[in-house]
Formats: sequence, C-alpha cells, structure tokens
Amino acid sequence: MNAKKNLSQKEQKVLVGKTVIDRLVERGFIKSGMKIGLGTGSTAIIAVERLASYIRDGKISGIKAVATSFQTHIACEENGIPVYTLNSKEIAGNLDLTVDGADEIDPANNLIKGGGAAHVQEKIVEYNTKRLVIIADESKLVAHLGTKFPLPVEIIPAARGPVIREMEKLGASCVLRTCAGKDGPVITDNGNQILDCTWPALADGSSPVNPAKMEDRVNKITGVVENGFFTKNRPLVFIAHSDGSVEER
Ligand code: 5RP
Repeated sequence: MNAKKNLSQKEQKVLVGKTVIDRLVERGFIKSGMKIGLGTGSTAIIAVERLASYIRDGKISGIKAVATSFQTHIACEENGIPVYTLNSKEIAGNLDLTVDGADEIDPANNLIKGGGAAHVQEKIVEYNTKRLVIIADESKLVAHLGTKFPLPVEIIPAARGPVIREMEKLGASCVLRTCAGKDGPVITDNGNQILDCTWPALADGSSPVNPAKMEDRVNKITGVVENGFFTKNRPLVFIAHSDGSVEER
C-alpha cells in the first residue's frame, strides 16, 4: 500500500475529487452522452476539473452538465464542459448522475448542505437525478446532524423576522449569514438570504432533530425557500481519509 499518511483536509478534498471521477468512469457510471449534475464548493470543483480532463483527453464525449451555482457554471465554462439547465430539452428535467460535496454526513448518509449558500439549486438538481454521489473529507462525518454545522435555511428577505420566530418555536437559534467581501447579509444566487440555524445538543450529545421530519417541517414555514437537510435521495458517499484511503458507503 502506497498511502501517504496525515493528508490535510485540502489534500483529502483533492484526493476524493479526483478519485470519484476515476472510479465512476471505470465502472461506467459516468460515460459518453450522459446528463451530469455538478455540485458546488471546493471539493465538487475538483471533481468538475477531473471530469473536464476526461473530456479534453477524448476519453468521454457528449456530456451535458447542469451546474448548481454560478461558481460551478463558471468552472464549467472555463473547463469546456457544456452547461444546460434542468429545463433544457436536452436534459428533459432529469439527470443520470450528480456529484456534489456536503457539510455534514450522518451514519445513514443524511446530509447537511448549503455551506456555500447553494443548497436550493443543489437540492433541485439532486432530487432530480437517478444516482447521487457525495464526496467529502473525513471531517464531514458526524454522529448526528443539526447541532454543530448549522442548518442553512434560504429565505425570502421580507420574511426574515417571521421565519426566525417560527424556527425558534422549533427549538433552533438563527443567525443571518454575512460574509467577507460584502457588507450586510449574503445574497444567494437566487437573490435571497440565509439563516444559519442550530439546535442545542441533548445531554448525551445527540441531536433533538430528526433530519427527514425537520426537512419537511422547516419548508412549511411561509417565506422559507428551502433548507439544507438532504434526506430524500440517499447518496453513495465517497470519503477521503487522512491515511490516503477513499472509503465508499
Ligand atoms: C455548497 C455546499 C457544499 O457542497 C458544501 O458546503 C461543501 O463544501 P466544501 O467542499 O467546500 O467543503 O453544500 O452549498
């Protein structure tokens, strides 16, 4: 075994971003002519670049991609991957396979996503794909969702106050997301704002939240566009470890 020890988080992202595309191509899960969804974030972009290298080398052709954010759309343009939307007649509303990153992954492969504020378009794409593949470094594995990495909730700006009140009734604390490089709130690719919501852990360290139920419950609040729990299309997950291995589960 030639595994390098103690890979950093960044090195793990590079390892899993490349390995996932190599393995999916090798197994025929990615092949010429397929309709592929492409996720957002530092790990997903490595997979986008790896896919592009297969296209450039002529090993795969005729890929039609759907991007989940401006970030990914630009990466596709820069790397020569043709981009469509789910509404294009070439895509006809569904995809063969989608590859994306995640912020937290529980033992049942439920996810929290939206650290890059892209979870609305990610969920639209990932709930309309036959096969969902999630890639991550090992820091993303958790026992329970909802108590450490906050649940991103995209909201219509005019509904901020009422949504915060409703989330508080569900036991959550909410923070309006801001970022470096802009004063005031983050504005998403869809022109909305993000509330980052956390629940206090129970005494045994577990979460008071059932992700599948809470995914539906939060979306019932008027003014919520979509939340970052992903529980309805169970993914195949590739995890890079610091010992240089890439686990699949
Ligand atoms: C963006 C996402 C990303 O996939 C998630 O934040 C992981 O990002 P990274 O690969 O940079 O750690 O959900 O909305």
